[in-house]
Amino acid sequence: MAEARIIDGKAFAAKLLLQITGDVSAMPVQPGLAVVLVGDDPASRVYVRNKAKTTVEVGMRSFEHRLPAETSQVELLALIAGLNEDRAVHGILVQLPLPAHLDSAAVIAAIDPDKDVDGLHVINAGRLAAGLPGLVPCTPLGCLLLLKDELGDMSGLNAVVLGRSNLVGKPIAQLLLAENCTVTMAHSRTKNLPEICRGADILIAAVGRPEMVRGDWIKPGATVIDVGINRVPAEAGKTKLVGDVAFGEALGVAGRITPVPGGVGPMTIACLLQNTLTAAKRIEGARK
Ligand SMILES: NC(=O)c1ccc[n+]([C@@H]2O[C@H](COP(=O)([O-])OP(=O)(O)OC[C@H]3O[C@@H](n4cnc5c(N)ncnc54)[C@H](OP(=O)(O)O)[C@@H]3O)[C@@H](O)[C@H]2O)c1
Repeated sequence: MAEARIIDGKAFAAKLLLQITGDVSAMPVQPGLAVVLVGDDPASRVYVRNKAKTTVEVGMRSFEHRLPAETSQVELLALIAGLNEDRAVHGILVQLPLPAHLDSAAVIAAIDPDKDVDGLHVINAGRLAAGLPGLVPCTPLGCLLLLKDELGDMSGLNAVVLGRSNLVGKPIAQLLLAENCTVTMAHSRTKNLPEICRGADILIAAVGRPEMVRGDWIKPGATVIDVGINRVPAEAGKTKLVGDVAFGEALGVAGRITPVPGGVGPMTIACLLQNTLTAAKRIEGARK
């Protein structure tokens, strides 16, 4: 059997960003994205910097709010309330995780659902489950866009989603159900995991366990989307990133597969800006 086709998420994300740039330039109002960072977690600082840079590159306004680690819940909620009211802000993202003394659920609940570009508000989870227009979490949206581009119509395909987090597994399962896939959700209590995975035409791995999915778990010709990002020890005391799928083994069995890095990862920021564009169009449309 021929080697699997590698799905180039980096190239797709670059194309999507170009398209967003064109759409932004055609809008009468410049979309704005506010990103809130509390504390100085180094990884979060890098994410926020990259988000702000890409926001400006597509022609949107970027509002960065960096707050000290000791910021109180009341202060953070006051900032969110202000951003909810701010007409120049169409998207609000609070970088997670928040310092332990802050209540993340209450903070997310305070964001106007129509500006919730991370798609984490329960109203948006409910809209997704009910098939209503809302804002979908960025990584699942990225997976869906890649799958649609590769497969087109997914009606009737068997999809197995490994992982059931609110951030990744559950929204992906809802999106695939809306595409008329027959969806199985698997998790840490699932029995006969390899056998269930072997039934998948589309296999989504979002577990956070390095290379857990082996080549013989994959149906020949299946499309494999590897959401996992795991840092593992490499040669000479270095580290490297691997996914939740044993990529080398999967290459010989799958029909298509996303690499790690360069697969789903680059889609996440692009989808954040896609969501900001969607939010801006809806908010400005409703103001007319
Ligand atoms: N590409 C991106 O931009 C991006 C974005 C977000 C996340 N990620 C990556 O995606 C992965 C998943 O993220 P997450 O936030 O969804 O993680 P999470 O909240 O830790 O959820 C992991 C899920 O995997 C399941 N699981 C864990 N061990 C398992 C096992 N041995 N067998 C079967 N299922 C198992 C868990 O089951 P239970 O529910 O039963 O515990 C849980 O539902 C991580 O590697 C993360 O770094 C990537």
